[in-house]
Amino acid sequence: MPLTIGVPRETYTGEKRVATVPEVVEKLIKLGFAVSVEAGAGDAANCADDTYRAAGAEICTDAASLWAKADIVFKVRPPSLAEVALMKQGGALVGFVWPAQNLELMQALAARQATVLAIDCLPRMLSRAQKMDALTSMAGISGYRAVIEAANAFGRFFAGQITAAGKVPPAKVFIAGAGVAGLAAIGTAAGLGAIVRANDTRAEVADQVKSMGGEFVKVDYEEEGSGGGGYAKVMSEGFQAAQRAMYATQAREVDIIITTALIPGKPAPRLISAEMVKTMKPGSVIVDMAAEQGGNCELTEPGQAVVKHGVTIIGYTDLPSRLAKQSSTLYATNLLRLTEELCKAKDGNIDVNMEDDAIRGLTVIKNGEVTWPAPAPKLPAAPAPKPATAAVEKKPSGHGHGAGAPMAASSLAIIFGIGAALFWLVGAYAPASFLSHFTVFVLACFVGYMVIWNVTPSLHTPLMSVTNAISSIICIGALIQIAPPEMGGARPDGLIRWLAVVGIALTAINMFGGFAVTRRMLAMFRK
Ligand code: NAI
Repeated sequence: MPLTIGVPRETYTGEKRVATVPEVVEKLIKLGFAVSVEAGAGDAANCADDTYRAAGAEICTDAASLWAKADIVFKVRPPSLAEVALMKQGGALVGFVWPAQNLELMQALAARQATVLAIDCLPRMLSRAQKMDALTSMAGISGYRAVIEAANAFGRFFAGQITAAGKVPPAKVFIAGAGVAGLAAIGTAAGLGAIVRANDTRAEVADQVKSMGGEFVKVDYEEEGSGGGGYAKVMSEGFQAAQRAMYATQAREVDIIITTALIPGKPAPRLISAEMVKTMKPGSVIVDMAAEQGGNCELTEPGQAVVKHGVTIIGYTDLPSRLAKQSSTLYATNLLRLTEELCKAKDGNIDVNMEDDAIRGLTVIKNGEVTWPAPAPKLPAAPAPKPATAAVEKKPSGHGHGAGAPMAASSLAIIFGIGAALFWLVGAYAPASFLSHFTVFVLACFVGYMVIWNVTPSLHTPLMSVTNAISSIICIGALIQIAPPEMGGARPDGLIRWLAVVGIALTAINMFGGFAVTRRMLAMFRK
């Protein structure tokens, strides 16, 4: 008997998202499930009841009948205790749950003998889990929206301009915390033309900041900020003092600050003090994306936009909900991918396989038994850091050699020796005509190698396609075949001529297609 997935209207004040959208309903039905949606559930996300109906869902007029019918409930926000009371005994719930912050809710769900899959507990570092990672989808949307909110409150352009009415300097934006949301904010602000700087305690994000169009600003203090699992840790007092000094300088210089800094299980680090806000230029904007976790800025009021010391401080806690259609669509797709994992047989039933690391991680209650927190998933072993001595060993010591150097030098010498011997053999015995072709071949290999060696790996695919297009120069061979004799052509009759014509046609496809594909690929790298 296929199970029914129920999608209630979100009851949290101001929440506009919905847990599934009509396009996804069709796919859930293809997996064998029946889908029921509460009337008006998608209204605020521009998904009307009729569109759900057209996709094959049944519309339930009220919440009570929806919850009573649903074997599996898809939700965005954690359910209220009143909603849990409506839930089917032994039913399943999929959505944000935040078990650490909602112990009472966990108890209520366990008492209902429920199976609860908390999307916020997904082990994000598993590459298999990325398609289900709603935290990342929502953080990306929040980062984008934070910049849009800042632009809305800011009285100037982001991009610099020279107009007849005068010169406009570009806005300067500083992003504190370059995780998923921070990187999305950097990309959006840079796309609007601002000068973007960013800081994070995890040094490894410096390259990511650069690749999104920002400049990484370092704290003048040596301390690694990774606390495991890709997340940050609480930094030492010394680091925090150095970081405050750097942030104070940035606050004086920039027009917009967007803060995204979070440490799992801890209150958000206080990065922007009231004193720093006072030194900002009038009309500046701060968007504090950590407002719900206590705020990165001392003056933030969660859920509000306030003006203090001439600076607009935005502490909205519903940034993904402000882009309800987009966030509902991405969230619904994340839940669909999870459902596909749970229903591999496509028979409208779910198998909560606790042997699967991703499923184990997000199963916080199974048949009424609390299974949270899950043990850390088994990740592929990270490459061991090189011991510091390795670098020392490689340095030439002045008198004598290190252990590694003579090995490399001797193997290089052997390769050169063998190469030289082969060349001598070819030179001594091969016919002269072969030798000239051979020389061109060796030089081509050398030049090709030197050209490709300096190309960044991300450009290798367009490089391959352009090389492929250039290789169509062999077309000259076929052209000579069909050219008239007075132009140096052979003009053979019959089969060979037609083969040459076919050859030219195919090479033309290769040539024009190769260049067209390269153009399209390179367009993806252009802003
Ligand atoms: P988050 O929302 O917990 O934190 C946001 C950022 O704030 C982090 O980059 C953190 O380092 C930074 N931060 C914390 N304290 C700070 C301080 N005092 N000063 C400045 N910055 C501070 O993290 P988020 O965005 O959810 O993910 C963090 C990282 O996790 C990602 O950048 C990525 O490396 C990893 N991740 C990996 C995934 C995967 O492999 N599939 C998926 C999602 C995240």
